[in-house]
Amino acid sequence: MTFDVKRVRAAYPALTDGYAYLDGAAGTQAPEAVIEAIAQTYRSGIGNEGGAFPASGRADRIVAECRSAVADLTGAEPDGVILGPNMTTLTYRLADTLSRQWGPGDEVVVSRLDHDANVRPWVQAAARSGATLRWAEVDSSTAELPAAQYRDLLSDRTRLVAVTAASNIVGTRPDVPAIAAAAHAVGALCYVDGVHATPHVPVDVRALGADFYATSAYKWSGPHIGTVVETLHPDKLAPAPSGVPGRFERGTAAFADLAGVAAAVDHLAVLDDSAAGSRRERLLASMAAVERYEGQLFTRLLDGLGAMGHVTLYGKAARRTPTAFFTLDGYTPGEVAARLAARQVNVWNGDNYAWELAGAFGLRDSGGAVRAGLVHYNDEAEVDRLLAAVAELTPGGVR
Ligand SMILES: Cc1ncc(COP(=O)(O)O)c(C=O)c1O
Repeated sequence: MTFDVKRVRAAYPALTDGYAYLDGAAGTQAPEAVIEAIAQTYRSGIGNEGGAFPASGRADRIVAECRSAVADLTGAEPDGVILGPNMTTLTYRLADTLSRQWGPGDEVVVSRLDHDANVRPWVQAAARSGATLRWAEVDSSTAELPAAQYRDLLSDRTRLVAVTAASNIVGTRPDVPAIAAAAHAVGALCYVDGVHATPHVPVDVRALGADFYATSAYKWSGPHIGTVVETLHPDKLAPAPSGVPGRFERGTAAFADLAGVAAAVDHLAVLDDSAAGSRRERLLASMAAVERYEGQLFTRLLDGLGAMGHVTLYGKAARRTPTAFFTLDGYTPGEVAARLAARQVNVWNGDNYAWELAGAFGLRDSGGAVRAGLVHYNDEAEVDRLLAAVAELTPGGVR
């Protein structure tokens, strides 16, 4: 297993602009291969799908290759890959569709760990259909989402459990297989938000037990495209087609961007350049190397921030992505982000749409916190730049 961060960084043109991009949890930069795949789609001529001429055939192939790439990334079947503009739009679409079968007496379970995109669509769909909403709570001192609570939350009336594979502000990775198994035991579906987890860990939707797994390509070096992988396998007659995605996709696809998605998956598959085998096997090896590398970098970040008396860190889950959420005594999160931006360090401030979790931390009305989200192209020098800048921002420091 090898991970050469210098080689990896060289693939990203934007990383030469002098800024430390510690904002990856809100969106990553694109490698040259992705930019080129998008440009090449337009250069070669592109038509709409299903026509008799070559430019249309190229669109057909791009869509098929994109589904197959996302299937490799997540361990799913290409026929179950639904493509759309972003995760939020697709989740609203699925919530709207699934909730048409719900009614009074049915129950839906959401969590306070989740990004609002995997909360509000279900809350609103439940309200519309008359279903009862139940909340899985976070331990605010650790930011863990205890799986054991689902035993009490679920009943034979539960229709759907929505849960994240990782928190976008504190990185907590809950025990999704246990939660999904509990959901399945009562006949409920499990909708997993994989947007924040996918860039950081090897993904196997079957091992997770996800009936639906949502990702956004722009969080893993691709363009602004969302995907939901559907893994349901209802019995069907042998000659009947098995594909579902078309039913959830509306209008003409963003073909060039879809070409970029496939290129991003190919790029992830070579992050460990010693990895061999099929694209799926290389992805699993590469993402394992990414997880290990990011883990080391995150330890450096947490140790550094943890040693500073004026820093309060939120969340300390046992399993987490490299995502730090913190406040500094004497500065609002907005002020910290602006000071860091002046030193060419990109971080986010606010609740980052983890609206419920920010509330559980008591930060919703005070501007949230600062988020530094590492990804595989960050390096020690960037972490050290962040630490040096934060060290200067003591309450009595130079304003
Ligand atoms: C964990 C998580 N879920 C969902 C979303 C929403 O994704 P999209 O922007 O593709 O709608 C985000 C975006 O930041 C996220 O971090």
